[in-house]
Amino acid sequence: MTADKPVIGILGAGKFGVVLARLAAAAGYRVLIAGSGDPKRIALPHDVLAHGATATTAAAVAQQAEIVILALPLNKYREIPANALAGKLVIDAMNYWWAADGVQAEFTDPLTSSSEIVQNHLSASRVVKAFNHMGYTDLEDEARPAGQTDRKAIGVAADDAEALDLVASIVNDIGFHPVRLRQLADGAKLEPGTEPFGADVDAAELQAMIDRFPTSQRGLRRAAALAARNSPASAD
Ligand SMILES: NC(=O)c1ccc[n+]([C@@H]2O[C@H](COP(=O)([O-])OP(=O)(O)OC[C@H]3O[C@@H](n4cnc5c(N)ncnc54)[C@H](OP(=O)(O)O)[C@@H]3O)[C@@H](O)[C@H]2O)c1
Repeated sequence: MTADKPVIGILGAGKFGVVLARLAAAAGYRVLIAGSGDPKRIALPHDVLAHGATATTAAAVAQQAEIVILALPLNKYREIPANALAGKLVIDAMNYWWAADGVQAEFTDPLTSSSEIVQNHLSASRVVKAFNHMGYTDLEDEARPAGQTDRKAIGVAADDAEALDLVASIVNDIGFHPVRLRQLADGAKLEPGTEPFGADVDAAELQAMIDRFPTSQRGLRRAAALAARNSPASAD
């Protein structure tokens, strides 16, 4: 563990949160991880514990971690303690996954990304979108040290340039090439229904996919919604 690295907290100790904990702990971060209830219910694999990750309560994560990663179902976002996270950097790794979580009207507006909705809830935090588009098994299997040629890429989207760089450095530390998107709203380009979602590709290919967003399913829906909003009929 390295003293100069921020303490990372993870809210959500499911399939995805535990892999993130393992990678962050192996990269030298002190990691706190919580589910919705008793930390004793969290079965952290031995190698995660050995690297210094600790299972605790969500309240302790929110209070003690300097950077908090959201790895819980998006339909629970209102349970995220906004006051306790005020002033902190929060990484949103969540997705609107209607098949599992049910359809929720607020996430169906193609003009608003889910991370903007999370930022609205966490109005006193700096929210950065990252990690959402890669499946947990790829995340687990594909982490590679910097400099290795077959490194895969992870998109990072934020409005705040300093927060963007900090999260990009965490992505790099845990084994992936960060690809920066310079607005939180551009996180829409990494959401379900886009090419990067579920992709396991290098930085050049991820950037190409992001650039093709306008022709993705999500991009086309966004263009249609924008056209409808700007049409003279919608002004009536
Ligand atoms: N699975 C993937 O490959 C993947 C990839 C990228 C992003 N993601 C995103 O990561 C999130 C989690 O996915 P998952 O597959 O890991 O789901 P999962 O296995 O069902 O785990 C969900 C976790 O969230 C916890 N949780 C629920 N409410 C909470 C709260 N209020 N505070 C703290 N923790 C809470 C649950 O704890 P309890 O069991 O104690 O309720 C559980 O540990 C989703 O938003 C998903 O879109 C997943």
